[in-house]
Amino acid sequence: MITMGMLIVFGFAFQGFFGVAAGILIASLVGLGYGWVKKERFFIRWSLLALFLDLLCMIGFYGICNIGQPAIDKPLPFNTIVSNPLKQKNMKHAMPQLPYELEALAPLISKETLDFHYGKHLQAYVDNLNRLIEGTPWESLSLEEIIQKSDGGVFNNAAQAWNHTFFFQTLTPKQGEMPENLKAKLTESFGSPEEFVQQFTKAAATFFGSGWIWLVADDKQQLSIVAESNAGNPLRDGLKPILVIDVWEHAYYIDYRNRRAEYIDAFWKLVDWKKVAERI
Ligand SMILES: [Fe+2]
Repeated sequence: MITMGMLIVFGFAFQGFFGVAAGILIASLVGLGYGWVKKERFFIRWSLLALFLDLLCMIGFYGICNIGQPAIDKPLPFNTIVSNPLKQKNMKHAMPQLPYELEALAPLISKETLDFHYGKHLQAYVDNLNRLIEGTPWESLSLEEIIQKSDGGVFNNAAQAWNHTFFFQTLTPKQGEMPENLKAKLTESFGSPEEFVQQFTKAAATFFGSGWIWLVADDKQQLSIVAESNAGNPLRDGLKPILVIDVWEHAYYIDYRNRRAEYIDAFWKLVDWKKVAERI
């Protein structure tokens, strides 16, 4: 005689939660069918109970897996990836390589600032992110996907890792002339490159608290300046990051103390215009 216990054990032949749940589901349906054919109320009663509990567990587990993961309407319509594109499930997020030496931006941004800003702050965001997502569904997602979907500590650390990577990649010790295509685009959106610099500088200088000032492009390729508090990242709004300045105090306090305006002046002397133009 086939017992309910044997049918449920059959489910454990599958691997993983949903495999086990599917096994129990099948076993419950078989038990239900058997009870119906044999007119055995015992099988019908216990099969229905097992089916109900199984469905309840599946719904609950699915909910837990998807907490804080709102659906993405559409994938990013542009290629602004700073994370490791080869990242596989269970691989840790890695520290990005700086495109220059730690002392290369001195004296405008000192080695000591980068030792802390890159070596301590960014390292902490990357380490925290890896620790927070270990063993969770976030582990299999790219940095960009995590930023789009997450909230709380996972978002803060993922976005700070992305923002800092993008910021450090925007700087160079060998600044060249602004490419013509960037000049034309800034003129189209702001009136002139000089006017853009003035507006961006004002936004950075007057921003209250910690955050990021971004130059972004929308889906019509129109450029605008966006201020984001804390770890804010325009990828969340479907906007394409072009340029950013970090206005957290840790970005400039060692070199400039509270004189943010001097730090912003230094930033303009270090922007890699060629790299910025390539992002448009
Ligand atoms: Fe920072």
